[in-house]
Amino acid sequence: MSLQYQSGFGNDWATEALPGALPVGRNSPQRCPYGLYTEQLSGTAFTAPRSENRRSWLYRIRPSAQHLPFELFTGAPRWLSEFGTGPVTPNQLRWSPLPVPDAPTDFIAGVQTWGGNGSPGEQSGVGIHLYVANRSMQDRVFYNADGELLIVPQQGRLRLVTELGMIDLEPQEIAVIPRGVRLRVELPDGHARGYMLENFGAALRLPELGPIGSNCLANARDFQTPTAWYEDVDGDFELIAKFTGGFWRATIDHSPLDVVAWHGTHAPYKYDLRHFNAVGSIGFDHPDPSIFTVLTAPSDTPGTANIDFAIFPPRVLVMEDTFRPPWFHRNVASEFMGLIHGVYDAKADGFSPGGASLHNCMSGHGPDADTFEKASAADTTQAHYIRDTMAFMFETRRVIRPTEQALASAARQDDYYRCWQGLKKHFNPTTPN
Ligand SMILES: [Fe+2]
Repeated sequence: MSLQYQSGFGNDWATEALPGALPVGRNSPQRCPYGLYTEQLSGTAFTAPRSENRRSWLYRIRPSAQHLPFELFTGAPRWLSEFGTGPVTPNQLRWSPLPVPDAPTDFIAGVQTWGGNGSPGEQSGVGIHLYVANRSMQDRVFYNADGELLIVPQQGRLRLVTELGMIDLEPQEIAVIPRGVRLRVELPDGHARGYMLENFGAALRLPELGPIGSNCLANARDFQTPTAWYEDVDGDFELIAKFTGGFWRATIDHSPLDVVAWHGTHAPYKYDLRHFNAVGSIGFDHPDPSIFTVLTAPSDTPGTANIDFAIFPPRVLVMEDTFRPPWFHRNVASEFMGLIHGVYDAKADGFSPGGASLHNCMSGHGPDADTFEKASAADTTQAHYIRDTMAFMFETRRVIRPTEQALASAARQDDYYRCWQGLKKHFNPTTPN
């Protein structure tokens, strides 16, 4: 089945799976077409400014209130929302890819929290997760009241069957599921591995472009929101909720993915990272890596994001008399990186697709010794083509506190620090050039 999408970002969408299912001229008529129930799903305060406001009107077979009481659910034991309060190691951290498990593991069970900050209660901060799974969610539908989810597949496709429509997702694409939207995650390839950001704060949006102008970076028209789709199925289903950092399970006697039509601004979307129109220097030096921001979520301090999602896509480096790889630096913000595909240009080896690194506030990092020597000797009158790569970064204003399971993981590379130990002293006070 080939899915239908609506193109754009943050539009006021309108879509119906049956002709005439969307009421015309009013949101909650006394009686809806086809005998549907009306329900509003609010993603921001009712009174949020228009530019911020996100809400959708859903026309569904049964209202979402209809389920048996929630009980604690223990099927997502490694998805955490507590990040501790004690000191955090300033060491640079790196991990090899996680293996896909042998035991039956669906998407919810396969999420492993690697770090985070803030909390759902504060409505600020993020959870940073890896996932590995080997089967589709079966008769189980999930929603997250704690935040929106940014899903970054690295291996294996996902079908995200949401109550607002279906999204097919493959590596080098991303999807965002807004807070509260119900979904089932299916694995068409039978296995999946990737990364996931849980944003407890204000919703992700496109960055402002300033002097860049009205084009470039991620263009709005390349974002895709699904059209309405529903299933009318009675049977034994589980409704799983993530709420206040805990997981809850309710029995429900029908599929809750039963929205026949909807309109509004609170809706899932996907984006193909290969459409990102990278902008960079055409003279000398680099702009800051914020130039690679795909999506950003503001904090209460202007210009200082709760989370930026940036990528390092294929690009052509032409800057003359410039050290072209990402430079050595220390950052007040904290940086979690992953590699979706290919090779990352600041590391000769050790950072593999599916792996991850964490460079926290003010921890020095940058190219390894091999990359430094090679780039220092490169002929910068020639363009350098970086073709086979797709790395990304979750950058947050607050320290990313790694979880115990991340620090204790067999995938952790205890020798990561060695990649900088081979950097030679080139200083000679008698020879300026
Ligand atoms: Fe960095």
